Amino acid sequence: MQFIDLDKQYNLIREDLNQRFQAILESKQFIMGPAVTEMEERLAEYCGRKYCLSCASGTDALAIPLMAYELKKEDAVFVPSFTFFASAESVVLAGGTPVFVDVDETYNIDTDSLSTAIERVIAEGKLNPRGIIPVDLFGRSANYRKVLPIAEKYGLFVLEDAAQGFGGSLDGKKNGAFGQVSATSFFPAKPLGCYGDGGAIFTDDEDLFELMKSIRVHGHGSDKYDNVRIGLNGRMDTMQAAVILSKLPLFERELQLRQEVADAYSEQLKGFFDLPVSEDGFFSSWAQYTIRAKDEAHRSRIMESMKEKGIPLMIYYPIPLHMQTAFQYLGYKAKDLPFCAAVSRQVFSVPMYPYLDKQEIVHICDCLKQAAE
Ligand SMILES: Cc1ncc(COP(=O)(O)O)c(C=O)c1O
Repeated sequence: MQFIDLDKQYNLIREDLNQRFQAILESKQFIMGPAVTEMEERLAEYCGRKYCLSCASGTDALAIPLMAYELKKEDAVFVPSFTFFASAESVVLAGGTPVFVDVDETYNIDTDSLSTAIERVIAEGKLNPRGIIPVDLFGRSANYRKVLPIAEKYGLFVLEDAAQGFGGSLDGKKNGAFGQVSATSFFPAKPLGCYGDGGAIFTDDEDLFELMKSIRVHGHGSDKYDNVRIGLNGRMDTMQAAVILSKLPLFERELQLRQEVADAYSEQLKGFFDLPVSEDGFFSSWAQYTIRAKDEAHRSRIMESMKEKGIPLMIYYPIPLHMQTAFQYLGYKAKDLPFCAAVSRQVFSVPMYPYLDKQEIVHICDCLKQAAE
């Protein structure tokens, strides 16, 4: 058994993809070919944004808008501590300072912790609050009903990290459409993944879009060799865009299938573990189905037992960002963000992909229940 099996999906897109690849090979437009523009148009329409800018990875999709905001070291950007490293790494890459915030039972940014952190930064007077990066962790939207009014109150930009959440929605609005600007990743294991690295940025702001377009390719001006600012080589290649175009017709169905897999897990594991929180209005893209053991020793026993049975589990994330070596210079202690510190010792994720067989789910759940005893 694999944690994420991409085989079945590949068999469904193989013919279409071969044709698209063949056309690219014939045209030799490997960089910024027509598939890239077509994909950008389709994705902007999909999530209801005016503009989509494809780029080389989800990390670039975060770094490019942050570079456009011209962060300085004294600029604070509030980031949940329980997420993938890139959510905060991008802040430092762009020149700013991440301020870590705790998460709640949904694993997304805790808005009480967020308000407290903003007030603390203002009171200390060393950093200047600039923005918030809410993360749609495991596919579930951050609570934008609460985050957006906080951003408004303090005049902060919101950069949505929808790397795991593309396809999910909140109150009918798609992830990728929240805040001033959103970032997603097409890493192969993501709900909408390509066959290499790739990412995209979404916004409704034309000026920001033009600025990010320039940053994506070495800060070019109106002429390609007139560089007016510092940028990146952040383009997505044509082959990767072709993979996304081949997968798009399957995507809505795959999201439904992911929901069915999640429902089956929830039904069978109820009462045995802390399960993902469900709430009206939140539709997850189920990048991960993540549950909690009682404590670290309990989790280790479960992981060991499942390994013996050949069932892969993963831990996202064993070390919260405020405890990462690279962020030691910020001086956090584990207990500063107690929920993050606690759940990082308990969480584990089970196999999750749209084509996971119902019998396999029963087998995984039976083994998990035995392992949990
Ligand atoms: C929450 C989050 N943000 C950012 C990224 C970075 O994306 P990429 O790996 O495409 O650079 C990831 C990817 O794993 C992620 O999960």
